[in-house]
Amino acid sequence: MRTTLLLSLLALVFHSSASLLAIDYGAEWTKAALMKPGVPFDVLLTRDSKRKLQSVVGWKGDERLFGSEAAAVQTRFPTDSFQFLKPLLGTEYSQAAAANQSAVSLARTSESERGTFVFHRSDGTAWNVEELVGMQFGYVKELAEALGGEPVRDSVVTVPAYFSHFQRQAVLDSLEIAGLRPLALINDGTSVAVNFAMTRSFPIPETHIIYDAGAGSIRATLVTFSSSVSKSKKDKDKETTLIEVKGMGYDLVAGGMELDFRLRELLEEDFAHKTGVRIQGPRPVAKLAKEAARVKAILSANIDSSVHIESLYEDIDYRSKVTREQFEAACADLKPRFTQPVLDALAMARLTMDNVTSVILTGGASRTPMIQSVVNAVVGKGKIAQNVNADESSVLGAALYGASLSPLFRTKDIKVQDLVPYPIQMSYPAGQRTIHTPLFPRGSRAGLKKTVSLKRAEDFSVLFEYKDAPLHTREEILEVSFSGVEEAVRNLTDGGAKETVAKLTVQYSDSGLLSLREAALIGEGYEQSFAGALKGLFGAGKQEDVDQEADRPGAEGEQAPLEAPEMKQDPKELPLAFSEVARSVPGLTKERKRKSRQRLMALDAAEQTKRRREEERNQLESYIYKLRDVLLSDAETVFIVYSSEAERAALRSVLEEVTGWMHEAAETAELVLLREKRAALEAAEQPIQSRVKEAQEWPQHLSDLQRALTAGRIFLTGAFESRTSDDPENPPLHSDEELENVKTILEDTEHWLQEALVANKNRAKHIDATIKTWEMRSRGILLQDAVTKLTRRKAPKKPKKMSTTSESSSTTGAAEPGKTAGVEGQNDESQIPLHRQEL
Ligand SMILES: *[C@@H]1O[C@H](CO)[C@@H](O)[C@H](O)[C@H]1NC(C)=O
Ligand SMILES: *[C@@H]1O[C@H](CO)[C@@H](O)[C@H](O)[C@H]1NC(C)=O
Ligand SMILES: *[C@@H]1O[C@H](CO)[C@@H](O)[C@H](O)[C@H]1NC(C)=O
Repeated sequence: MRTTLLLSLLALVFHSSASLLAIDYGAEWTKAALMKPGVPFDVLLTRDSKRKLQSVVGWKGDERLFGSEAAAVQTRFPTDSFQFLKPLLGTEYSQAAAANQSAVSLARTSESERGTFVFHRSDGTAWNVEELVGMQFGYVKELAEALGGEPVRDSVVTVPAYFSHFQRQAVLDSLEIAGLRPLALINDGTSVAVNFAMTRSFPIPETHIIYDAGAGSIRATLVTFSSSVSKSKKDKDKETTLIEVKGMGYDLVAGGMELDFRLRELLEEDFAHKTGVRIQGPRPVAKLAKEAARVKAILSANIDSSVHIESLYEDIDYRSKVTREQFEAACADLKPRFTQPVLDALAMARLTMDNVTSVILTGGASRTPMIQSVVNAVVGKGKIAQNVNADESSVLGAALYGASLSPLFRTKDIKVQDLVPYPIQMSYPAGQRTIHTPLFPRGSRAGLKKTVSLKRAEDFSVLFEYKDAPLHTREEILEVSFSGVEEAVRNLTDGGAKETVAKLTVQYSDSGLLSLREAALIGEGYEQSFAGALKGLFGAGKQEDVDQEADRPGAEGEQAPLEAPEMKQDPKELPLAFSEVARSVPGLTKERKRKSRQRLMALDAAEQTKRRREEERNQLESYIYKLRDVLLSDAETVFIVYSSEAERAALRSVLEEVTGWMHEAAETAELVLLREKRAALEAAEQPIQSRVKEAQEWPQHLSDLQRALTAGRIFLTGAFESRTSDDPENPPLHSDEELENVKTILEDTEHWLQEALVANKNRAKHIDATIKTWEMRSRGILLQDAVTKLTRRKAPKKPKKMSTTSESSSTTGAAEPGKTAGVEGQNDESQIPLHRQEL
């Protein structure tokens, strides 16, 4: 129902090759959706037909596994299993962060040269977080390509609203490594809002809160929806829905993972208490973690749950029982954290619960009774939206958002305004002091550019940084250095400028990344005589200026001579060269990304080769079995009857050779060798198989040809007869020459067939026939074409009276001899099903 509704909104699509992949990458689960014409818009299914994929990549020996397959071997290979990677994207390596990671995963980590997380496999290879996440993205891409039947490039990925510039950059890097091109990142609460808005209209603005209790965090997004109908002629009655994010709040601890962790600790204590033994080592801990996740799910619907793990530690079985009460007591301190995000979102938007129409719950942990009851208590039970299934709406909303950005799709008109989660300022030295200029305040609109003017006459640099952001990293984002300032100042001064001002345009993008878009030096204070030329060129002078439109650097300088060709004018604005250095948690360099991409592609290629090799080996193996069976059969099988002793001996000899080779070399043999062996067997078997096939098809082809001959005969007899009656009103339809031509073909074919039938009369079955079925078919078609050409010809127009007689005679069948009736009769006969396309 939901899908069809959405589909109708998406109906118009221009490009048949447009594919868009949306990924909702969670700490625990990944969901994806492919938007492509001809493919029903829905959540992408995993190989085992599930609607979500565990966010795990792991190895079993040298076999790489994803999703449930990776999760299934996790307890056996805990150190080769990588999960809960999302919180580590763009995160600085620190003892505390590493300790947090080791609470949820037993993989070995270390610090990279960039100060980020690196993971170590048991085979000694090291992988950075972006690469491991890139593998997961790549796997989803593969699923989408298998469904869509063509390569997928464009993608939209959801991120939590609290993700920093660094974390967003790491997501973008991971996508690039996976071979995907990001159209945009969208905050996950916002994408739920997009999906919500798709099937609704808001003539009266409404405010809703999206409450997402995920595995890694809890977040609340406050969104105001309003719809307006265009009054302009062009888009008359076209409705546009504005989605404004006005507040957000989050908690990075109280998610589902923390609940699992608390339960695991509870079980650990319980085990120690019952047995006097404290468990240690990765494997039992992994087992306990798995049981904790299971028990948590049971406690969502029951007041207690049994616990049972065979030989958990030192061969001791663990059997116990946990009540929901015990579990909730172990989480008591988390309760305020469940609802604080809602209060924070309201505060940021300067609204109260009275202004909120409903609270939409989403995320796996939102089904936990403990979380539901505290949320109910804070927002009021009536406010929880009942009929909104939000679990998949984030990924669907992300796809719809991507479609709204791409000219290749047409969706309902939506405009999304997100916000800035952390305040960003620009800092630069001025004499002894450092000046901090606020740029993007917390809660202000994202997707804007700001221009800042600085009085500078020498090379300088500025620092963009978060101010008081609760991040686990340092706060510097980007340092930008400008060069060639003195020369530019000189040029402008030579051109008459009294003063110069550096104008920097900084963008906080809709995807939540900060960048310097352009920089220019502007001349100011020109003499009066310059005033005319200057008019309207720029509106510099304001300290800060919000400007949503990009103006290319130097554009004014280029245009000036065109506007005033009579006087050569000096430029009034010169672009400034600048270089950027990413700070805190720098993204991967271009070179590094290229290497990582190649690394992943090499893995993919090796796996594909391995897969193909295995398939080929299996095929060869079953082919060998099949041949052995038919050769060893005692019965008079078709195979035996239609083959000669010599052919079977030859095949047997090849078979023995290949079988011997299989035992010795097939395990490691290359694909081409396996194919060669199969080809050798096929070549030896082919003469027999084609003889069997000929024999099977012979009767049908013979009968077809014989029917064609009969039809030709009947036609010729009729046609020759009609020529002898010389009725002046009915001149003959066919010339003698035409009929003789058909006759020649007919007799030739009859003769040829006659000889062939004689020659093949007492032929042994293991001898090839002297003619092939394809020859019968092509001769039959030749004859049929010659006849059809003549029977298709219409009798010339006759007077009305006559045609009536002729019509009635042909329908009743009481025809005069010969004439059209006879020809029509043959016409049916000559419709023999000769399958010319098979030739
Ligand atoms: C680690 O987790 C604790 C509690 O779960 C949290 O308070 C802390 O901020 C986390 N530290 C890092 C560096 O992620
Ligand atoms: C929010 O609710 C308060 C109290 O009901 C009301 O006065 C105010 O106008 C509302 N604000 C908005 C933006 O609707
Ligand atoms: C300054 O002017 C000179 C001479 O016209 C030119 O070569 C140079 O590129 C200009 N420098 C800048 C920074 O615009």
